[in-house]
Amino acid sequence: MRHAVIMAGGSGTRLWPLSRAQRPKQLLDVVADEDGGAHSLLEEAFTRLEAVLPAEQIWVCTAARYADMVRAALPRLRADRLVLEPMARDTANAVGLTAALVADVDPDAELAVVSADHVIRPVERFVTALTTAYDLLGVRPSALVTLGVTPTSPATGFGYVQKGAPTEVAGASEAASFREKPDRATAEAYLASGEYVWNSGMFVWRAQTVLDALADHLPESAKGLARIVAAPAGPERDAVLAEVFPTLPKISVDYAVLEPAAAEPGRVAVVDLDVEWLDIGSWPALANTLETDDAGNAGRGLRVLLDSSGNVVLSDDPEHLVALLGVRDCVVVHTADVTMVCPVGDAERVKQLLAEVESRH
Ligand code: GDD
Ligand code: MG
Repeated sequence: MRHAVIMAGGSGTRLWPLSRAQRPKQLLDVVADEDGGAHSLLEEAFTRLEAVLPAEQIWVCTAARYADMVRAALPRLRADRLVLEPMARDTANAVGLTAALVADVDPDAELAVVSADHVIRPVERFVTALTTAYDLLGVRPSALVTLGVTPTSPATGFGYVQKGAPTEVAGASEAASFREKPDRATAEAYLASGEYVWNSGMFVWRAQTVLDALADHLPESAKGLARIVAAPAGPERDAVLAEVFPTLPKISVDYAVLEPAAAEPGRVAVVDLDVEWLDIGSWPALANTLETDDAGNAGRGLRVLLDSSGNVVLSDDPEHLVALLGVRDCVVVHTADVTMVCPVGDAERVKQLLAEVESRH
């Protein structure tokens, strides 16, 4: 049967101070509704999957501390489809744990893995791509399939998939190689070659296939995960999870599985995801989803700007006014307990600023 899991355990530190350890970006109401309200990226990811699968085949994997917020955001998520990690050990283990639990209830399960931090439009084309990827498993049951997006810049925060020959399923190609987060020069060369697409961070494979790939490339994780699911569901399994999970090597599925597997001919395939795709990873990216004035200032909340341009201004307190005079290309974010200001060009470094703040408090 077809299943899907939303990876929703990231901490979204580049959107600090709006995104917090207590409420990370995938749970913030940042996506505008047509009626003037807003909803979260996680809700959007769930609704998107419901266009392909019934709710009972949709899983969410997240950190235990976000459990209540996830349940509140997703009333249609089935209680036994929520996979809770005692702590974040990155996506190799999040995917592995979910795959192990899914395979435990359905050994032949086909499992799509999607991330929670993207705006994707239109949904119909996402549905087409995901369906194509599942269909490919019909002819290649042991394939690792990634959904690839046409790159528009030499971004260094993404994985790059080199497209090879077309496969037997239209819209799907062999992946000749996979490279996670290359340096700038390499990313520029990839973009110029026209042979690469961005890894969207969304995959489709049989749950058992990704477990086998983990056994090959990250045996320590595979052994630990096997111990966890060997325990009977309930308090016993929770105890083994709490003991074993924190000891697993912290690494993403891209580095741990996709990079090495793509070196094996015929193992990794890529399906074209032909959509408008926005990774809401940082302030300038979020600005694309906000109201923008004639001077290119994007924002939300009470704000007055005079002779100012290219700024991103957010106040999450409806009573609090942010006023700017003669300010250019800055991010100004006001929350109840933190105000953060930085040049737009330094927005990728907000993560560092947060680390600095944490080291002093
Ligand atoms: N459950 C769980 N546990 N989820 C996690 C964890 C974890 O430990 N770490 C991250 N996630 C979730 C995030 O919330 C997000 O939805 C998704 O997994 C991807 O994690 P990111 O940390 O945002 O990855 P990235 O953006 O650096 O890179 C990935 O996505 C890019 C596209 O946005 C890679 O797959 C890249 O190759 C890809 O280009
Ligand atoms: Mg991301």
